[in-house]
Amino acid sequence: MSQETIHAALLGFGTVGTGVYKVLKNQESEMQQKLNTKLVLDSILVRDIRKYESRVSDPSILTTSFDSILENPQIEIVIELMGGIEPAYTYIRSALEAGKNVVTANKDLIADKGGELFQVAEENHVELRFEAAVAGGIPIISPLKNSLAGNEIHQIMGIVNGTTNYILSKMTDEGMDYVDALAEATELGYAEADPTADVEGYDAGRKIAILATIAFHTRVTFRDVYTEGITKITSKDISYAKALGWVIKLIALAKHTDEGIEVKVHPMLIPENHPMASVSGSYNAVFVHGDAVQDVMFYGRGAGELPTASSVVGDIFSVARRILDHSQGSTKDNVYRNIPIKRIENTKSKYFLRMEVENKPGVLATIASIFGNNSVSIEQVIQKNKVGSNAELVIVTSCVRERHITDALLILNSSSVVSKTASMIRVY
Ligand code: NAP
Ligand code: HSE
Repeated sequence: MSQETIHAALLGFGTVGTGVYKVLKNQESEMQQKLNTKLVLDSILVRDIRKYESRVSDPSILTTSFDSILENPQIEIVIELMGGIEPAYTYIRSALEAGKNVVTANKDLIADKGGELFQVAEENHVELRFEAAVAGGIPIISPLKNSLAGNEIHQIMGIVNGTTNYILSKMTDEGMDYVDALAEATELGYAEADPTADVEGYDAGRKIAILATIAFHTRVTFRDVYTEGITKITSKDISYAKALGWVIKLIALAKHTDEGIEVKVHPMLIPENHPMASVSGSYNAVFVHGDAVQDVMFYGRGAGELPTASSVVGDIFSVARRILDHSQGSTKDNVYRNIPIKRIENTKSKYFLRMEVENKPGVLATIASIFGNNSVSIEQVIQKNKVGSNAELVIVTSCVRERHITDALLILNSSSVVSKTASMIRVY
């Protein structure tokens, strides 16, 4: 049955909300051809109408009342782009309970309360879509759920935060200061309202939790993810990395192993000829390894007004199609396993360690013996710069269990030979 018009409402009119408004306007006439229906944005929820009046051709669609949207029976799609947990959670839940479909870019909410919200959506026979929540403009949720459904997914590895990738690229390629690079990323609309979520790895942690849940069919929440951000990365680490033929990237990793699921976010030294090494600026990339497809890589803009709006509008189209063919709510969460999460101390990696050590004979032998006693073997040692009366030592270990490296560092850092371990970065 054809429907003349589908009505929608937008909650939040910031970077992504504005992008969605623009893309919907650009697509106005095309959309009618593509969907055989007209999509009308009836309301935009804001907190201060005057602040946003100049952004719309008809300011009467701006409202400060969520209830007016909830109580409007014509509105079938609610697009949440405010971010954060509250009031987004309450608004989304009540929209679903009122029989409205929801499209969101809110990874904080999906990574934390996704399971509960999908159930509410299913019970109310409506859609809950979130393509833009992971890797901005890159289609990854839908390919994982649909195109790759015939695979047992073993691993997902990605650069999924545009802000930190922008900062690290600027520091590496232009020698830019961390603070200036963060200010630029914020100005360009990549950073979260509170950029701590970006730079401390929480945003990437939420995204990898969402991807792991879909890929492995087991519930993975943000609390299951080990996170380490980029705030401790210095220009010294970047130059050592360059000299050794590596690039530092913030990597999100989810692995299905025999011992459980490994899910973590941390900076990583990547060989400069690895495809991930050339993912720069606000670009993101996601590598998926499945038993049938083998390796597949998704690449594109991971943040920003229009790239993110592209994913949101794609979801709006999908929901509109479901409304038109009366198949809303038929997408299942597909979480049917309960796989344990591996603790970080049981994961394995190679490590890059930068240490300030006493500058005297025998120090290297002492360090090597402490590593040896803790089952850590050394692959490479560089002794270069003097730091005051100390020497700076860079050690690259072989692939070892994290527990062994932390045990060895505990002993070394309390010994007289090491004055401090300045950096510990995992190596690909
Ligand atoms: P933003 O620029 O900070 O915009 C958020 C908007 O929501 C602001 O206009 C804010 O209005 C409004 N808002 C907040 N609470 C509200 C409330 N209670 N009622 C009405 N309006 C409210 O954020 P954004 O970058 O667009 O991000 C939006 C969402 O998309 C977040 O979940 C984010 O994680 C996600 N996302 C962002 C990107 C990106 O590149 N930016 C990419 C992918 C996903 P005020 O002016 O009143 O504060
Ligand atoms: N702050 C996020 C980023 C936005 O920088 O990747 C896209 O999710």
